[in-house]
Amino acid sequence: MLNASLTVDPAYTIGTVDPRLYGSFVEHMGRCVYTGIYEPGHPSANGDGFRQDVAGLVRELGVPIVRYPGGNFVSNYKWEDGIGPVTDRPRRLDLAWRSLETNEVGVGEFVTWARSVGVDPMMAVNLGTRGLEAARDLVEYCNLPGGTYWSDLRGGDPYGIKVWCLGNEMDGPWQTGHKTAEEYARIAVETAKSMRQVDPSIELVACGSSNRAMPTFGSWEATVLKEAYEAVDYISAHAYYQQHGDDRASFLAVATDMDAFIEEVVATADHVRAVKRQSKRIHVSFDEWNVWYQSRFVGETNLDVEQTPRLIEDVYSVTDAVVVGNLLISLLRHADRVKIGCLAQLVNVIAPIMTEPGGAVWKQASFHPFALTAQYGQGTALQVIPSAPTVSTALYGDVPVLDAVAVHTDADEIVIFAVNRSLEEPLDLAVDLRSLPGVTSATHTALADADPDAVNTAAAPDRVAPRLLDEPKIDGGRLSAVLPPLSWNMIRIS
Ligand code: AHR
Repeated sequence: MLNASLTVDPAYTIGTVDPRLYGSFVEHMGRCVYTGIYEPGHPSANGDGFRQDVAGLVRELGVPIVRYPGGNFVSNYKWEDGIGPVTDRPRRLDLAWRSLETNEVGVGEFVTWARSVGVDPMMAVNLGTRGLEAARDLVEYCNLPGGTYWSDLRGGDPYGIKVWCLGNEMDGPWQTGHKTAEEYARIAVETAKSMRQVDPSIELVACGSSNRAMPTFGSWEATVLKEAYEAVDYISAHAYYQQHGDDRASFLAVATDMDAFIEEVVATADHVRAVKRQSKRIHVSFDEWNVWYQSRFVGETNLDVEQTPRLIEDVYSVTDAVVVGNLLISLLRHADRVKIGCLAQLVNVIAPIMTEPGGAVWKQASFHPFALTAQYGQGTALQVIPSAPTVSTALYGDVPVLDAVAVHTDADEIVIFAVNRSLEEPLDLAVDLRSLPGVTSATHTALADADPDAVNTAAAPDRVAPRLLDEPKIDGGRLSAVLPPLSWNMIRIS
């Protein structure tokens, strides 16, 4: 048995948790839209063609905002293809994923779906093959009440889309219309200016780096923000992690990479702030993150052109779910600067929710830590000052076996989110609660399994699920709980 400790004090605040930290992402890719959220022939589909079995799980997941329509897809996309009578819409070749796009779902259908599941849309514009004019027209189409060409074409209530991404991963050579930082910065500023002329209330996200290992990481953010600081509100970050070979120890430590990534982006943004004598702060929109076994993906150029192909339908294990829970701990630890997070993606494509066409819907293992954190991690994030032994990892050196953060919730609970990274040993956790006199009870929920490779499937949808463990002991201002080996944990203290 390992021993670790942490201290919870509501005075040790990090910042308010923006509910949008628990966002997700729907891309026109693989089966995320078609046979994912939308499948008119499915027995559960509503009159608009949206699967209500999927909608139910989206609500249960607790996502408040969903980024759309890509992703790499957006850099080839003509949004006008997805409006007007569905029968008149063109079938297009999508070069990002070499797929046939029928355009049955466009921005209007997406907004209808978003409203029906209670999420805000977060819209990306195409700065790959297109630019300022198409982006400006799209804001007019979505947000202007009426009386102009595009808003009248929409009809009905304005969509009121608040958050807009200025392109997607424009630093990546794989991106259609890839740009240098200088080229991107200019087009981003001018597009932002024009979009805000249509609707001054919108918030704008500039593209940061596609991942921390990009050769231009750091200089990209600095160059873009030097030009665009005044024009934007957020800089994006994307990160996907996987286990390499049998190196599970390094995989369980990837949150240390996310921590460093966020801190480096924040430092770069604040450097530009100082140089520019600016008072406003740029926040981070971590608008793509997840576990993704990219090494198993054949690559975009090797795909046969298909309609609704099965693309990157990764099946997540208990280990993957613990890592997802740990990445959420990293986001919460930076709640003062990360205001938007999007688990990529929502359905079927590296997703917490899986479907079969015409058939079942089920939760992946990763659904659980996400849904519980989104539900109970609302309020003020707290530093917990952990003290723990370390485990050595090949990729990240020695890392603490315990990673944890707490949230002082709006319902006046303290909720600790914690991961035990040890593969074999349980962790005896002592929590100093002396700043919370009168606390007498707590609950402990854990995601752990004798088989760390266990997964959920259509046939066994509840094979992996969180369990309520024995109530933690509380005595003399100290709580003690045992975190199982390789586990994600939530301790609620009320
Ligand atoms: O989420 C899958 C893809 O990953 C997105 O389209 C792209 O933005 C990222 O590289």
